[in-house]
Amino acid sequence: MMTGNSDKAPAATLVIFGVTGDLTRRLLVPALANLRRENRIGDDLRILGIGYEAMDDAALRARLDTFTDPSPSGWSKLRNRITYLKGDFDDPATYRALGQQLAYAGNAAFYLATPPEFFGPIVERLSVADLLKEDVGFRRVLIEKPFGHDLASARTLNDRLLKLIGESQIYRIDHYLGKETVRNILVARFANPMIEAVWNHRYIDHVQITAAETVGVGRRGKFYDATGALRDMVPNHLFQLLAMVGMEPPNSFAAAAVQTEKTKVIEATRKFLPEQVTTDVVRGRYGAGRVGDEPRSAYSDEPDVDPDSDTETFVAMKLLLDTWRWSGVPFYLRTGKALARRDTEIVLQFKPVPCALFRHSDMNGLPPNRLIIQIQPDEGISFDFLAKLPGPAIAAAPVTMDFRYADRFELGKLTGYETLLYDLLIGDQTLFQRADAIEASWAVVQPILDVWGSGEGRPQCYAAGSDGPDEANAMLARDGRAWHPIAR
Ligand code: BG6
Repeated sequence: MMTGNSDKAPAATLVIFGVTGDLTRRLLVPALANLRRENRIGDDLRILGIGYEAMDDAALRARLDTFTDPSPSGWSKLRNRITYLKGDFDDPATYRALGQQLAYAGNAAFYLATPPEFFGPIVERLSVADLLKEDVGFRRVLIEKPFGHDLASARTLNDRLLKLIGESQIYRIDHYLGKETVRNILVARFANPMIEAVWNHRYIDHVQITAAETVGVGRRGKFYDATGALRDMVPNHLFQLLAMVGMEPPNSFAAAAVQTEKTKVIEATRKFLPEQVTTDVVRGRYGAGRVGDEPRSAYSDEPDVDPDSDTETFVAMKLLLDTWRWSGVPFYLRTGKALARRDTEIVLQFKPVPCALFRHSDMNGLPPNRLIIQIQPDEGISFDFLAKLPGPAIAAAPVTMDFRYADRFELGKLTGYETLLYDLLIGDQTLFQRADAIEASWAVVQPILDVWGSGEGRPQCYAAGSDGPDEANAMLARDGRAWHPIAR
């Protein structure tokens, strides 16, 4: 995990499969430029991009010049270290050419920024070409999302990879773990006794995890229509947040210790019975509406979307963790597109006081205590509590203590990939996902996929720009609870 000191990553070659794609231009290269500016990587990091398109080094560099550069000084130093290799990912000749390029290289990391169907084949071809043996340096493979599309395919992919390389060589990425505020959950909890002391079923009534987006599916209709909100966001990003909130303190911040504690939380998440999928899981899909001032068309009218599909763009669910700490505390998760506001947050709602001392005063209907961790945008932590209204009578009013990162720290324009790329190069797997965690996550959502796949029910329509479908509100209302509003 990137820490405050400025250790430089070792000399290596970073091979990016799919270098001509959007991810490299928008996120990877800006992140590498930031790392170069901070001397986390030096001139001894070579970047070799592989893609189908016919172009030379100069053309690739010129294309990458056009990204919104947060770090011009880093990019100018990095630019000449990038070279291009044209090649088909399925063609052994590509790997022979790659082998020649790596002939005198020690360390190499292979970043698979490709569609998922190439993950297995690329690793197999790298292995056949003898490029994954760690004789003269490390050989690591970073796998982008999505890692499988259900439990069976995730298992198959893990088996396929683990036949060829060790777990210590595999870096399964989830970009949520590169976000500063996500990592801050660990610091907030484990560096502050006051917070950790109440972080359990004795004080917490329930937890809400929300990842609301204003964007629709945009130009990703083809991918999204075959994927849906559940697969796209839940077993990966939302479960990472769930694990960070739910985990026990690890024995150390060593990768294995942290990964083990996170995995235990996911393994302890109770599996849905088929009938619970109908009551405890809600799916929705946006209809036409307005997000802010902008008119939006319905999901079914988006490009490359089959209007008759029953793909969901919103999902909410109630989960229970069978752990000592969280016994009886529901975790409500929701995520969706074309919602009222961009808002990724974790809300811990506290139980009421055990004895209503102020029952003769007018305190009914006042909001409960809440600790809110705002992941994005406007990152911060706030605490809603009650304070006495000035005056002779005992009366209370809701107030908030608010910490915003931007008020206190220089946040800079980080992409979130800096830490993850650096960790790949220094060999720190703390922020990556282990095979067992991935499979445990898919095991939790598989019963939902099975029920939906059997053709039961359909997503409920919600207006673009709203807080999601009514059924999501009804699910919490049945438990006597309500969502923290998205539109506020
Ligand atoms: C991606 C999903 O993994 O995460 C997208 O495929 C989603 O659909 C994105 O928009 C959300 O990431 P962030 O960092 O914008 O919250």
